Amino acid sequence: MSTFLEAMAFRHACKHFDTTKTIPTEEFEALLEVIRTSPSSFGMEPWRVLVIEDPKVRQALKSSCWNQAQIVEASELLVFTTDNDAVRSDSPYVRKMFARRGLPNDAVEAYMGVYATYLSSIEEDEVLLENWTAKQCYIALGNAMTFAATLKIDSCPIEGFDKEGVEAILDLPYGHSVAVMCAFGYRVNPQSPQMRLPLKDMVEYR
Ligand SMILES: Cc1cc2nc3c(=O)[nH]c(=O)nc-3n(C[C@H](O)[C@H](O)[C@H](O)COP(=O)(O)O)c2cc1C
Repeated sequence: MSTFLEAMAFRHACKHFDTTKTIPTEEFEALLEVIRTSPSSFGMEPWRVLVIEDPKVRQALKSSCWNQAQIVEASELLVFTTDNDAVRSDSPYVRKMFARRGLPNDAVEAYMGVYATYLSSIEEDEVLLENWTAKQCYIALGNAMTFAATLKIDSCPIEGFDKEGVEAILDLPYGHSVAVMCAFGYRVNPQSPQMRLPLKDMVEYR
């Protein structure tokens, strides 16, 4: 428990990263593994993570990301995109994701039915569908940031961007969209004080 809470105390939204420091490959690969093994609704894993290495692409993205310095300064920049078409209830991908559980056909069909019912009101609206797949990304994002903090790697989640601009720069495949970004690296400045609501304002026992 203490390791996790220490990581929570260490983590902050890092505004400036040390451009001379790079995350060791092994640690970065572990971070990607944390994302890969994160849970998602119905196990659909709608995330498709882009690791933006090209400095020219980073520079282009910066202007669509409120000119935030983290975009170009961070050792690693992840863009969580989602494959929204893949998770539509009539998609072969969905069947594959259920079938991989090794269930008999009738059980797969039953899952498909429950899934189609659940998704029916979501998938009829592109924005709702994008929001649903994006929600899954935020679970992986949280895991990644806390895991990084256990390795004393700093991060900054980034929602401050022009979605259409970023999607145009990244030239995403049809049916894909950008959910959220995260920069990872090492802080330059000391961490600012962590400001949070007191527990009594956050939790209510009923
Ligand atoms: C989903 C999400 C998106 C965020 N987007 C940005 C961003 O674009 N730029 C930024 O500097 N901080 C961003 N933040 C950081 C928050 O402002 C920050 O987490 C909050 O103020 C609490 O501060 P702390 O994380 O440093 O404790 C984002 C945080 C979250 C969770």
